[in-house]
Amino acid sequence: MSTSSSEDTVRLAALADIHYSKSAPTSLQPLFMQIAESADVLVLCGDLTDYGLAEEARLLAKDLTQVKVPIVAVLGNHDYEADEQRQIVEILGEVGVHVLDGDTWEFRGVGFAGVRGFCGGFGRGALAAWGERIIKDFVHEAVQEALKLEAALARLSAPQRIVLMHYAPIAATVKGEPAEIYPFLGSSRLEDPLSRFDVTAVFHGHAHKGTPEGQTQTGIPVYNVSYPVLKANYTDRPPFRLFEVHPNVKGDVTPLAERRWARRASDHDVEGPAA
Ligand SMILES: [Fe+2]
Ligand SMILES: [Fe+2]
Repeated sequence: MSTSSSEDTVRLAALADIHYSKSAPTSLQPLFMQIAESADVLVLCGDLTDYGLAEEARLLAKDLTQVKVPIVAVLGNHDYEADEQRQIVEILGEVGVHVLDGDTWEFRGVGFAGVRGFCGGFGRGALAAWGERIIKDFVHEAVQEALKLEAALARLSAPQRIVLMHYAPIAATVKGEPAEIYPFLGSSRLEDPLSRFDVTAVFHGHAHKGTPEGQTQTGIPVYNVSYPVLKANYTDRPPFRLFEVHPNVKGDVTPLAERRWARRASDHDVEGPAA
């Protein structure tokens, strides 16, 4: 449980692509405990399991049981691989994880909206719903995800609106991946609702070799919090991002880690930030 949270700020930890697997079991429990000490809420942006198995979700749920801060999540494409996504949602729900799929959740005045999202590409390179039925169906999936996100955002009344998704809504945060696979990493269609509802910040994963930070055309900050991205880009700290949000003051989220981890580096070797 966090020890120094202030009533007028919410500290938000964000992470994606933890890919819990039964064949290569690696527990992130020590990392989750660090997160629980540092943050008031944990945001998980999909690919929680490796092959989408209920069994993998059980391994994760076991590790999350000890985490005494609320957790909000979306599923990723890997969580759909075995067609056991409903069981995964149930298993994680049993340990208190709020799994969003076009849903909303509010915590201490901060609103969250989450969808998995979908792919199809960005900007002028985005796939259009034209030609064969199967192409139209493919594009339709991204449109549906964008509509789900829009409907969720319309239901949020909190001044601070945080969006979590698995796929990227902009190209900037997938930069670093091979250009050939950009169309499979996200969709610009997910960007429109963000601007329309003046979202505070967006967190996503999926692009394991992407870039940690970008922004929408209207300046909304977008964070790729994929575990491998954080490992590669922030070698001086545990692999999660930490932010501060003021529930009643409309404004950006403030990244905290730089300051906290700079202090930590001179204090301890293994413990999380002092706050
Ligand atoms: Fe992933
Ligand atoms: Fe993914």
